Amino acid sequence: MEKMIIEGGACLRGTVEISGAKNACLPIMAASIMAEGPCVIRNAPRVSDVNTLTEMLRFIGATVDFSDNGCSVRIDPSGVTGGDAPYEMVKKMRASICFLGPLLARFGRASISLPGGCVIGPRPIGLHLKGLAALGARIELNHGYIEAEADGLRGAEVFLAGRFGPSVLATANVMSAAVLAGGTTRIIGAACEPEIVDLAEFLISMGARIRGHGSHILEIDGVEGLSASEYTIIPDRIEAGTFMAAAAITGGEVVLAGARHDHLGAVVDKLAEAGVEIRRDGESVVVKGTGSVRNVDVATHHYPGFPTDLQAQLTALMTVSEGISIITEKVFPERFMHVPELNRMAANISIEGPSAIVRGVRELSGAPVMASDLRASAALIIAGLVAGGRTEVNRVYHIDRGYDGIEKKLSALGARIWREKGSL
Ligand code: EPZ
Repeated sequence: MEKMIIEGGACLRGTVEISGAKNACLPIMAASIMAEGPCVIRNAPRVSDVNTLTEMLRFIGATVDFSDNGCSVRIDPSGVTGGDAPYEMVKKMRASICFLGPLLARFGRASISLPGGCVIGPRPIGLHLKGLAALGARIELNHGYIEAEADGLRGAEVFLAGRFGPSVLATANVMSAAVLAGGTTRIIGAACEPEIVDLAEFLISMGARIRGHGSHILEIDGVEGLSASEYTIIPDRIEAGTFMAAAAITGGEVVLAGARHDHLGAVVDKLAEAGVEIRRDGESVVVKGTGSVRNVDVATHHYPGFPTDLQAQLTALMTVSEGISIITEKVFPERFMHVPELNRMAANISIEGPSAIVRGVRELSGAPVMASDLRASAALIIAGLVAGGRTEVNRVYHIDRGYDGIEKKLSALGARIWREKGSL
């Protein structure tokens, strides 16, 4: 396995190109099997989750070809006749669940391994199954698999939010299935993340009839079929927010080329409160650290609230703030695997239920640490950028799942970071 080495102390300066959004690309690639011809998806990020989803597509019979240096992908679903998503693949990437709706809608059956849990907490799928059953699917759970069948889905009204609010991928699955159902579907309590809006726009580009995307109430009028489409993925707001935290913690000034300021409202608001200067500049966002960071309190929420996928990165930033910050996880209450590793770097964080109490320290110290999940890895790299001495982030395959060449991008901004063979 590989590890990332960071020598702390550099101040980031320059321009970084924000890649396409992983969490838009995955459901959009899965939904492409619903088209009656090949789709071309542009601005795809070169991350391992996209490679895993490509393996799934090829496993069920699609032809997938990459071009444009890996950022454009052509998916021809003509060889797909139905589909099983085996355990070996789904355990690699929980997001494989996003095949459930498209397979059911196009082929009337799907067999998807139940996704396991993961380090950020339990990952139930009851809302996915509730929504698809409301459309008339017959669903059984057999030997760790979701076995779903439908002789034609029918439009329905369904409330789809759970105790932690709307579900992004449940919304993706039910919206995709409703597109080919007979009649109109109303999804109340739908997710309104930009990635869901992007999926809706992709489906509309194929001929789907969807209204209300970007709000918590979606209306979908079923259509007979979907045509091929060419579509460009939105930029990744989580990658952009990650680089914002990196610029802020080093006191640097970074231009995030292609970042969508309008997708980052809660993040810009919270970082501004922490004393970070952020402004829109045409098609870019400019972030300037001021050398000191004020403590902030934040609770993560579904969009447009502060994203859970940036909680670990903000926590890393707050470790060197002046004062005490309270960071509460309302989406994945157990999402604190980065905390013990940050404390190994001399941070001072305690966990009280769903909250991290972060007492700012003057300096972090470099240490060997262990990545546990995608965003926790990013948090450890952010901390390593300012820690005294050398930080080694082990099991860096986690970060490759969702960041397109993060060390190359950080090096180009002046960070002293590189990859080495690891032993852990
Ligand atoms: C998506 O996961 C993202 N992944 C996650 O990003 C992100 O953290 C999450 O949305 C929340 O924004 C992709 O899009 C591939 P949810 P998803 O269903 O859809 C509960 C990353 O780092 N819930 O919106 O699986 C659930 O337990 C990843 O890029 C139910 O209760 O998340 C959680 O508490 C990590 N029942 C909350 O809803 C269900 O049936 C939100 O989860 C489904 C979910």
